[in-house]
Amino acid sequence: MEINLLKDIRTANGAVPVIILAEGEDLKNHSFASFFSTDDLRYIAAFFKKTPVRDGHTHLLFTPSGREAVVAGIQKRTQFSHRKALSTARRIVAFARRERIKHIAVSLHDFVSRGFDSRLPDLAEVIATQFELANFEYTEYRTKPAEGWQHVHAISVYAKRAPKAVAEGLRRGKIVGEETNAMRELSNTPGGDLVPAGLAGAAVKAGKAFGFSVKVLSVSDMEKLGMGGVLGVGRGSDHPPKFIVMEYLKGKKNEQPVVLVGKGVTFDTGGLNLKPEQGIYEMHMDMSGGASVIHIVAALARLKVKKNIVALVPAVENMPSGRSYHPGDVLRTMSGKTIEILNTDAEGRVILADGLTYAKRYNPRAIIDVATLTGAAMVALGARASALFATDLKLERRLREIGEETGDFVWPLPLWEEYEQDIKGTFGDVANSSKVRYGGAITAAMFLWQFVKDSSVTSDKRQGTRTNQQQVSWIHLDIAPRMTSTEGDYLAKGSAGASVPLLVRFLTGF
Ligand code: BES
Ligand code: ZN
Ligand code: ZN
Repeated sequence: MEINLLKDIRTANGAVPVIILAEGEDLKNHSFASFFSTDDLRYIAAFFKKTPVRDGHTHLLFTPSGREAVVAGIQKRTQFSHRKALSTARRIVAFARRERIKHIAVSLHDFVSRGFDSRLPDLAEVIATQFELANFEYTEYRTKPAEGWQHVHAISVYAKRAPKAVAEGLRRGKIVGEETNAMRELSNTPGGDLVPAGLAGAAVKAGKAFGFSVKVLSVSDMEKLGMGGVLGVGRGSDHPPKFIVMEYLKGKKNEQPVVLVGKGVTFDTGGLNLKPEQGIYEMHMDMSGGASVIHIVAALARLKVKKNIVALVPAVENMPSGRSYHPGDVLRTMSGKTIEILNTDAEGRVILADGLTYAKRYNPRAIIDVATLTGAAMVALGARASALFATDLKLERRLREIGEETGDFVWPLPLWEEYEQDIKGTFGDVANSSKVRYGGAITAAMFLWQFVKDSSVTSDKRQGTRTNQQQVSWIHLDIAPRMTSTEGDYLAKGSAGASVPLLVRFLTGF
């Protein structure tokens, strides 16, 4: 979709103007008023006298002079929040698609909300991303209808001030939206058609297109590294596991990188602890964390961010078979720590253990992992926010803020050492499932923490020399709650793209 800057509404050739009107607001004061004749304005005013503006109601009007206009109602301006501004942006695109309007014009000033104190170019960026997200639909396996897919082709955005910076914001926001949609495309791909090698292929393709290096470790490479976690979970599948390493090193030579680790389970059957019917549905999206980190790096490369970023994806298919790992197995991970498998369905944390250990090779200044890790995170938060775990309050606060700015919402849960008791192993160092029924998102995070907090137990000599190094900053995002879109998101069914907008913005400024 084209998103361009509009300097004068009267030159928006063929575009249908979209006016966001708050309850009690007058169209005469809108920046698009000059687009309409006095007759048109009178007609529209009469229309809204009969049908008052209501929050959430959108109308397509045909004016006496033969023009079309869309009016999207919102609550009183004083109640209009940034959250609402973001969803209104998506709502407008969803409406235009439904009405088969191909080109719309909007005023950026309509999206300014109570409590939004950022600059106009920043607003342009996050709004452009919303437009892209709402225009996406996964159509790969559907027959194209004769009249084509219902997509908006162009959005012209009017801004009174800072035209250059606003245009730049729109350009950046479009890139973030496109890469988020590319992540959704990958995530939505059926499990039968995307196995670990396919996920690795997607990373290689992105690396070639946008200029970052991608290395794919095979089973024998992983054996040499002692990655018993990835190998153990991957053993039951006919499709061998892969370990994807992406390096985007455009920062200063001596700058420590940020390492991202994404869960890449291309299908999670649960393994021998097979999932029930409702649980197994949509488990082709259990590689969403992996798809996210691939497209986060792609977005950063396209935005030419001058940072050192590494992204790792342990990719496996979790299958029951004669070869699969069993409950009761004890796996030796790359860190040297052993994992006692209590439940083969808690596989994400097992593969991430090796991913987090591998991350330490880079002497990172921060490690960020992204995973559709637990159903318990959904129990805790519903479908509106990803669960956020962070080793320091400053990071936690910053991520919450960026969540609010981008609409990629996160909410914190604790990382307290008291929870460590719940994942102590009997026959191994750590158990992959908690003995306590409650707090599953937290105990999963505490499990991962065991592989981040120190490198003292290690079979790798090079790391053995760094046991007393400073504590690394760590962020864990359990994106299971936001794996798929939900009611009122104004997003297509399927993957919601969680963590891409959040982390692209975070890493750009970190
Ligand atoms: N991939 C699932 C978590 C999940 C569930 C993601 C629903 C998205 C939607 C994960 O591997 C899993 O199965 N977790 C178990 C852990 C349990 C066995 C300790 C869970 O959450 O039930
Ligand atoms: Zn599972
Ligand atoms: Zn899983």
